[in-house]
Amino acid sequence: MKILNKSNRPQPIDEEVVVPKDDVLISVTDPKGIIIDANDIFVKISGYSKEELIGANHNLIRHPDMPRVMFKVVWDHIKDRENIMAVVKNLSKDGRYYWVITDFITEVDADRNVVNYTAYRRAPKDCILRTIVPMYKALKAIEDFAGMEAAEHFLTDFLERRGESYDDFVEHLIVNTCEKEDIKKAYQAGSDAEKKGFFNRFFGI
Ligand SMILES: Cc1cc2nc3c(=O)[nH]c(=O)nc-3n(C[C@H](O)[C@H](O)[C@H](O)COP(=O)(O)O)c2cc1C
Repeated sequence: MKILNKSNRPQPIDEEVVVPKDDVLISVTDPKGIIIDANDIFVKISGYSKEELIGANHNLIRHPDMPRVMFKVVWDHIKDRENIMAVVKNLSKDGRYYWVITDFITEVDADRNVVNYTAYRRAPKDCILRTIVPMYKALKAIEDFAGMEAAEHFLTDFLERRGESYDDFVEHLIVNTCEKEDIKKAYQAGSDAEKKGFFNRFFGI
C-alpha cells in the first residue's frame, strides 16, 4: 500500500478547486478503504494521476479540517452494509480544497460479505455548506479540545434533538433549505412561468 507521511502530505492552502455542477466524481475501494478504481473526473479534481490513486488508502485526500468523527459515522454505516450520504471537504494534491456531497454505497456478495465500497460525489449547493461548515468547525474544535468521543456525543445529541439520522439531516437540508431558496430565487429573478410554478407549489393555483 502507498503511504503518505507528514513530509509528502500536501500543505493545505485556502483555495478552492471548483467541482463542475453536473459532474459525478467516483471512486471504488476494497473493504479496507484502498482505492481500486476512480473515474476521470475524480482523478482530475484530486490532482493525482490514476496510478498514484490506485493502491493508495483513501485517506490520501483527507483534509485536516474534516472532523474525524464524520469518518467514524461513515465507516460505522458502510461496515454494517448501510449506505450513507455525507458532506466531505477533500484535499487535492496541490493543497487546494473541494467540498463534495457523497453517497457511500456498499456492494455485498451472496453471503452478505462486503465486496467493495463506491463513493459518488457531487458539488454541494451553498445552502448546504452554510449549515455544514460551522457544524464541522464546532465538531473539529470539540475533537481538538476534548477528543473524538466528545465530538461524537455532541453529534449524537444534536441529531437526537432533531430526531434525525445524519443522512436524514443532510437530506432535509437539501429539501427544506435548498429547495426553498431555489424557489425564492426563481421567484425573485423569475419569469411568469417560474412565478406560476412558485404559486402552484405553495398555494396549488
Ligand atoms: C468508498 C470510500 C470513499 C471515501 N472517500 C473519501 C473521501 O473522498 N475523502 C476522505 O477524506 N475520506 C474518504 N473515505 C474515508 C477514508 O477511508 C478515511 O476513513 C478518511 O479519509 C479518514 O482517514 P483516517 O481514518 O486515516 O483518519 C472514503 C472511504 C471509502 C470506503
